[in-house]
Amino acid sequence: SYPSYVKVVEVGPRDGLQNEKAFIPTESKIRFIDMLSQSGLPVVEVTSFVSPKWVPQMMDHREVMQGIHKNPLVSYPVLTPNIQGFDAAVESGAEVVAIFGAASETFSRTNLNCSIEESLKRFEKVCEAALKKMVRVRGYVSCVVGCPYEGEIKPEAVTRLTKSLVDMGCYEVSLGDTIGVGTPGSMEKMLEDVTKVVPASRLALHCHDTYGQALSNILTGLKFGIATVDSSTSGLGGCPYAKGASGNVATEDVIYMLHGMGIETDVNLEQVIEASNYISTFLKRPPASKVTVAYNSK
Ligand code: HMG
Ligand code: MG
Repeated sequence: SYPSYVKVVEVGPRDGLQNEKAFIPTESKIRFIDMLSQSGLPVVEVTSFVSPKWVPQMMDHREVMQGIHKNPLVSYPVLTPNIQGFDAAVESGAEVVAIFGAASETFSRTNLNCSIEESLKRFEKVCEAALKKMVRVRGYVSCVVGCPYEGEIKPEAVTRLTKSLVDMGCYEVSLGDTIGVGTPGSMEKMLEDVTKVVPASRLALHCHDTYGQALSNILTGLKFGIATVDSSTSGLGGCPYAKGASGNVATEDVIYMLHGMGIETDVNLEQVIEASNYISTFLKRPPASKVTVAYNSK
């Protein structure tokens, strides 16, 4: 059976915008986040405390963190790949951070400039510091079914890394189909392996929609009891170190599907559509959400 409530984690302001070439003014990012904060979304990922040389779009992380109007009901994680990022994030007021590893060795080196093993050492330092400061840590595993460099990824590699992140103290680990190559077939194989070791209640799904499989893949995850789903308003996004990765599944499309199934989210779909139209108008691009396109033409 399906979960009765799904926690939707909005990653648009971070995953959605990180790959945009032209710099988006800080006020526009703040406006977008504030709109999402008022829509009932329980979690809005704000920005990344990564190197501005690697991801220039996120270089205004401090200003964004300090400029948003925080809704006390919303949690605002930020990406912190190492202790330097963690310290800067906490200084900017972050109460939740996310560490992000990859099940693929080549992807780890490309995204984080270090091996999986080395990344775990960096994450451990972040987790130790977080524990002392009462900061909660979310984990990500990228390339859970496929890697842009190595191709197919073995489920055991995903399980191993997921387990390490949970053991380090992550309250939840988000399984990322970074390049959107998964299908319900490969997702099921991967989830069968991972859920033998880590309970579904500690897992989230993070599906990019490159091959149009994201909603089906999410449905597959729901059947395993996964009740946390990452998505990006307007279907924005793509990882700068994953060639060909298109956006995340659109938040509007996920909400529409869940509500249609009688699954609660607490999210007001029309308010998310408003935020989607805001950011699409700003980017001068039609929304990549089918639901928003349909609503707009009504
Ligand atoms: P590095 O070069 O190995 O780091 O980068 P380093 O420790 O050797 O330091 C080199 C320089 O970076 C130094 O500056 C440091 O100060 C600086 P310099 O002396 O040359 O001027 N530096 C930093 N600056 C700001 N913030 C920091 C930081 N750390 C070092 N935290 C690093 C290592 C991780 C920093 C780099 O590789 C990086 O920034 N990578 C970016 C990764 C990224 O943001 N990727 C996109 C997000 S992940 C994603 O999208 C996938 C996900 O959505 C899930 C999925 O879809 O699968 C989460
Ligand atoms: Mg992603």
